[in-house]
Amino acid sequence: MAESELDEVSGKTTTGHQWDGIKELNTPLPRWWLITFYASILWAIGYWVVYPAWPLLWSYTRGALNYSTRAAVGVELAILEKIRGDKMIALGAASLADIEKDPALLTLARARGKAAFGDNCAPCHGSGGAGAKGYPNLNDDDWLWGGSLDQIVQTIQFGARSGHTKTHEGAMLAFGKDGILKRDEIGTVANYVRSLSGLPTRQGYDVAAGAKIFAENCTSCHGEAGKGNQELGAPNLTDKIWLYGSDEATLSETITNGRAGVMPAWVGRLDPSTIKALAVYVHTLGGGK
Ligand code: HEC
Ligand code: HEC
Repeated sequence: MAESELDEVSGKTTTGHQWDGIKELNTPLPRWWLITFYASILWAIGYWVVYPAWPLLWSYTRGALNYSTRAAVGVELAILEKIRGDKMIALGAASLADIEKDPALLTLARARGKAAFGDNCAPCHGSGGAGAKGYPNLNDDDWLWGGSLDQIVQTIQFGARSGHTKTHEGAMLAFGKDGILKRDEIGTVANYVRSLSGLPTRQGYDVAAGAKIFAENCTSCHGEAGKGNQELGAPNLTDKIWLYGSDEATLSETITNGRAGVMPAWVGRLDPSTIKALAVYVHTLGGGK
């Protein structure tokens, strides 16, 4: 090994290492870098002592603080549950009208309602309550059983044709299957129903006969003008909103076989404050009365 010497070109000393005449300049690491480097080693050792760090065969080193993220989350969750619990009690105690007037309760009810809706209702009513064939859209202003808060609570609690003793009863009769109307009469009244909401009707269908069949068989539930009856869950047939569909084939099927959509009863399955929250959520979706 050669002696350390001064390099004339760079003005620095060499380390004394040399390979085939190429000499290594002595350029040590900057001091700030070295200090940071040693400091991080010290930090790491301190960390290993204090916090959980090294895996062992069956366990791990727990560290002097005995810290555990899982335990920390557990504590936070417990606090959250407590806060939620208190708020849910407040929700349970408040009347529906109070909830809609109190911004804090309203926000809470909507959030709870939305979550519970996703868990329990969206499979049938669609996410956001947009509905599907046979499953009513809950965003619109059209209600089978009524869109006031109390009516919505009632429907959620006891359902429709759910088998619960307090459920909404009554259904669309099976006029064809039960032999009340003949096939051609069903076609005629189906066209009449289309005309009620301004849809085009089949060429040459007998309007007077359609009106007569409707008056004799349908107005008892759907009303003189076909505007429906929420006491009976009979839909408005004039509003261009269809639960099952408005083409002639679907209408004929409805009139021939009847319809009896089943909405389950939620009383006993969901606690009263959740049902309240759901009602508020549905009511504020857009079509609440
Ligand atoms: C198994 C499917 C199903 C589930 C789950 C379900 N519903 Fe329904 N729901 C229906 C059907 C079907 C109707 C329409 C009943 C009818 O034809 O009269 C309905 C009707 C309603 C109505 C009345 C709408 C109106 O126009 O009057 C409301 C409100 C409602 N559901 C809310 C809910 C809420 C809130 C939940 C969740 C807790 C829920 N539904 C879960 C099937 C369901
Ligand atoms: C006993 C009462 C009752 C009578 C009578 C009745 N309906 Fe209905 N109708 C209902 C009910 C209730 C529904 C809703 C069924 C459901 O929600 O599943 C309904 C649904 C309908 C629908 C489906 C509307 C949609 O949005 O898809 C049509 C169409 C209809 N009825 C036409 C008629 C016609 C036409 C007659 C006479 C021939 C008639 N109804 C007689 C109770 C009645």
